[in-house]
Amino acid sequence: MFLLLHFLLVTSAYAKLAINYDSFTGTQISLEEVKRQDKKNTTFWCTTQIEPCDPEEGRRVDGSCNNLRYVTRGASHTPTYRVLPAVYNKNFEPRLSKSGHSLPLARFLRTSLLAEGRLPDRQLTTLATNFLVFMTADVLSLHDTVKFILWKPYCCQPKGKTDRDCVPNKIPDDDPVHRFSNIRCLNMTRPESFQSIGCIKNDTVPERIISATPTFDLSTVYGSTLKSLLEKGRLFQGGLLKYEVDNDRIWPPSIKTGGGVCFLNQKPQETRCHNTPEDGANSLAGVNLLSVWFWRLHNFIATGLSKVNPCWNDDKLFYTARDINIAIFSQIFFYELLPVYFGHENLFRDGVLSPTPGFRDNYNEDLFPQISLEFPYVLRWFHTTQEGNMNLYDTQGNYLKKVPIVNMTLRTGFFGVGDNMDYVTQGNFRQAAAKADYIVDPDVVEVGLGAHQRASDILTNDLAKNRYFGFQPYIKYREFCFKQSFKTFDDLLHAIDPERVELLKEVYENVEDIDLMAGIWLERLIEGGQVPPTLYCIVVEQLLRVLASDRHWYERPHRPNAFSYEQLQEIRKATVARLLCDVGDKVTHIQRQAFYRINPNNPLCNCENIDFVNLWAWKDPKCDNQSSQFDAFYNSALFFHNQFMKLKTNE
Ligand SMILES: *[C@@H]1O[C@H](CO)[C@@H](O)[C@H](O)[C@H]1NC(C)=O
Ligand SMILES: *[C@@H]1O[C@H](CO)[C@@H](O)[C@H](O)[C@H]1NC(C)=O
Ligand SMILES: *[C@@H]1O[C@H](CO)[C@@H](O)[C@H](O)[C@H]1NC(C)=O
Ligand SMILES: *[C@@H]1O[C@H](CO)[C@@H](O)[C@H](O)[C@H]1NC(C)=O
Ligand SMILES: *[C@@H]1O[C@H](CO)[C@@H](O)[C@H](O)[C@H]1NC(C)=O
Repeated sequence: MFLLLHFLLVTSAYAKLAINYDSFTGTQISLEEVKRQDKKNTTFWCTTQIEPCDPEEGRRVDGSCNNLRYVTRGASHTPTYRVLPAVYNKNFEPRLSKSGHSLPLARFLRTSLLAEGRLPDRQLTTLATNFLVFMTADVLSLHDTVKFILWKPYCCQPKGKTDRDCVPNKIPDDDPVHRFSNIRCLNMTRPESFQSIGCIKNDTVPERIISATPTFDLSTVYGSTLKSLLEKGRLFQGGLLKYEVDNDRIWPPSIKTGGGVCFLNQKPQETRCHNTPEDGANSLAGVNLLSVWFWRLHNFIATGLSKVNPCWNDDKLFYTARDINIAIFSQIFFYELLPVYFGHENLFRDGVLSPTPGFRDNYNEDLFPQISLEFPYVLRWFHTTQEGNMNLYDTQGNYLKKVPIVNMTLRTGFFGVGDNMDYVTQGNFRQAAAKADYIVDPDVVEVGLGAHQRASDILTNDLAKNRYFGFQPYIKYREFCFKQSFKTFDDLLHAIDPERVELLKEVYENVEDIDLMAGIWLERLIEGGQVPPTLYCIVVEQLLRVLASDRHWYERPHRPNAFSYEQLQEIRKATVARLLCDVGDKVTHIQRQAFYRINPNNPLCNCENIDFVNLWAWKDPKCDNQSSQFDAFYNSALFFHNQFMKLKTNE
């Protein structure tokens, strides 16, 4: 009795109302079951605690209650779906070739199919690549990489042979690079799954487990649990996120001493390590940068809203600013970034882009807000367009120097030193991305993780994971996407250039053996865009699901706190150029289409002439009689705004 009472007392009011669910099945579970999970220390991953849903409530940080019938779907660590059913060998080991042998080594295939080198793209900037990486960080988690770097660092040692999680990649003796070194093994672990965590029995098909929410909701800024947002994110004044002013710039809060995951910070000068609700905001350089910008944008919006609506309280300002921030992110992602790679006409034809600037609504409660396992996977193809260096430019556009991007992973400290942030920002809209051309940057495939590992090949890992995810052969996805059937290698000529078909014949025995990623690497790119067709197909399948299944999607006229038509028209004006004008350090001029390089048709332009989202569309008539009241919220917001404007104009 005492124990029970104690339990009730320490459980907060919030938790008392909450209902426990099994994360995997989404069914309700009893307190006894939760206690069993507590004992196994699996509660965090295997159970989901959800307050009763309110149909009128906006988007929750933890993603729950998105689908009112299946309330856990949309929350973090809930299952993905598969576009095609899994295929494995026995014991969920990678499938064998048609003739019953192991498939060729991943590293052998990578070095055979893709060349190493550097060729800049004539059109795109590195801002496009960085925005894309940031988008994937919104729906993924890093733990698979952290696992073999930190948690199980022994996969290439004898101990690794005794751990089923260790699946390192063998390097053949005649490897083009490592024939000159003694490295014969690259660390890798199996993808984390509901089975590996211990949520469900391991005699079932491995189901990937992810900590971010599976909807586009800026998890990298707001986190994936309410607790984390309340503790690390909110300032509780003026609707703002916590912030620091350091070196005359505005930043997310930094960890003061110890802790944090900024393992590559070069002490003592590099000290910033961002302490945001989601650790993912300290990961790859591109993610780190965009996280800072969207963090600032939240405060920029909240400050604007508090001027327009002085009677709004902190909560109202915070949640409205978050909703607008997510909408701006989604608008730029769908209407500006996607057309660059996937082609405006194609996306329009396939229903990804709205035919009119008005609302659209095709909500389908029968579809869960989920991501497919294939969607983030095929996006790894973009590793081939990853530039190895980050070029720094001064605010006049003069090239200063370059830094290897692999040295920037888990290192936010670099941005805080001197004027680095200004230089990096300029570089993002001036430097060319790497061209999509069957060539991959040597840093990406030989260094990979900077000082975290002696050697690493990100694309070899990509190909190897293809097999641990149990994806069907490439030609099955071709069949699914294009209703074409492939019996012989020569049938591939529909999709792949003749020389590359020859290459595939040399490395695979049978056309059915070809791994999904190997096929995508070699496909001819789509008409009107710059991505392989099978990647296009899998991504579009996902985006259409997002549009139909995310009840809080910003273009809907009927959703809790839906935008008015006028408000939606303001959101439509958002561009990445405006984002950098608003929150980029010392950005006064930028090209209007900043995913494209500066050229005579896309010249630098004064920020004053670049359209912006006018927050007056959010004016609340209820505030009219109170506009002279300056409350505490307003003052703190005003302080931020003044500080911000002072810094931005302080050249
Ligand atoms: C329980 O899990 C948490 C997070 O997953 C971990 O940090 C902690 O060390 C674990 N505790 C034990 C006793 O295994
Ligand atoms: C499942 O777990 C058992 C016991 O821990 C282990 O012996 C077996 O290899 C595992 N099987 C798989 C497919 O992980
Ligand atoms: C990048 O990191 C490597 C080792 O981790 C180091 O040797 C190299 O000097 C670094 N390069 C720069 C430009 O910082
Ligand atoms: C594999 O990980 C271990 C432990 O972190 C490290 O010592 C070793 O250098 C790594 N192997 C490679 C090829 O980087
Ligand atoms: C503002 O105050 C005036 C008089 O005090 C009142 O007539 C009017 O209805 C109020 N307006 C709003 C929007 O509350």
